[in-house]
Amino acid sequence: MKGIILAGGSATRLRPCTKITSKQLLPVYNKPMIYYPLNTLIKAGITDILIIIAPEYAGQFLNLLGSGKEFGIKLTYEVQETTKGLADAFIVGNHFIGDDDVTMILGDNIFEDDLSGEIKNFKSGAKVFAKKVSDPERFGVVRFDENMRANKIIEKPKKWISDYALTGLYVFDKRVVEVAKNVKPSKRGEIEIVDLHNWYLDREELDVAMVDGSWLDAGTFDSLLEAQVLAKEKLQDKMVI
Ligand code: G1P
Repeated sequence: MKGIILAGGSATRLRPCTKITSKQLLPVYNKPMIYYPLNTLIKAGITDILIIIAPEYAGQFLNLLGSGKEFGIKLTYEVQETTKGLADAFIVGNHFIGDDDVTMILGDNIFEDDLSGEIKNFKSGAKVFAKKVSDPERFGVVRFDENMRANKIIEKPKKWISDYALTGLYVFDKRVVEVAKNVKPSKRGEIEIVDLHNWYLDREELDVAMVDGSWLDAGTFDSLLEAQVLAKEKLQDKMVI
C-alpha cells in the first residue's frame, strides 16, 4: 500500500496566513498541520508516501520533512502546477502508484479515530470514510438505502440527500489511475473525486466505513481553531511523529 497526501491548493479561505505559506504547514497546536495526515498513514503501516505540493512552497515542505528518514518513512514529492481537482492526484502520482493499492488523504484532514485497521484490511475496489455531520452541503455526500448500502454519492449537493459527509481519506486499488485518466472535467473544470467513487459504486466495489470520533477539515479559521483544540485535548498521546 502506497500513500498520497494532497497538500497543494491556494487556501484562499485562510488568507492572509496562506499568503506566505501553505495551509498544510500552518500550526495545529504544537505540530504543522501535515503531521496529522502523516500520522494517519504511518499508523496504518504506510511508509512510502508521495506529497503533492504547489510550486510556491515546495522548498518549505522539503525543509520540514526532507526525505522522511527522521520518521522512518520514504517521502517523494510532486509539484502540481495548477489545481485540477482531487482526482488529478492519481494522474500526477501515476508512476509512484505503479502496481500498488493507494491510500490518499487530504492534507487538512484531521481524525480522532485510529483508522489503521480499516486501511490495513482493504482488499480491492475502493473504500471511503463517512461521518454524520450537520452541514452536509459543504462536502461530498453519500446516501444509503434501508440496508445501509451506499447508493449515491454527490459532491456538495444543493438539495439534501443525506447527512453523511465523505471525509478526505480514500483507499483505492491500482485501477484508480486509469479511471482518473478517463474522467471528464466537471462544470467547474475539475476532475472530481466523486466520479472515481461512482465508478466503483456502479460496479458494487465501493465500501463505506464509518468514522465515530471527531473529524475536521481544517480549511477555515473556525475549523482550524477546532482542530487546535482537538489536537491539544485528544491527540497528544496518539501521535507517532
Ligand atoms: C473535498 C472533497 C469532498 C470531501 C472534502 C473532505 O472538498 O471534494 O468530497 O467531502 O474534501 O474534506 P474540499 O474541501 O476540497 O472542498
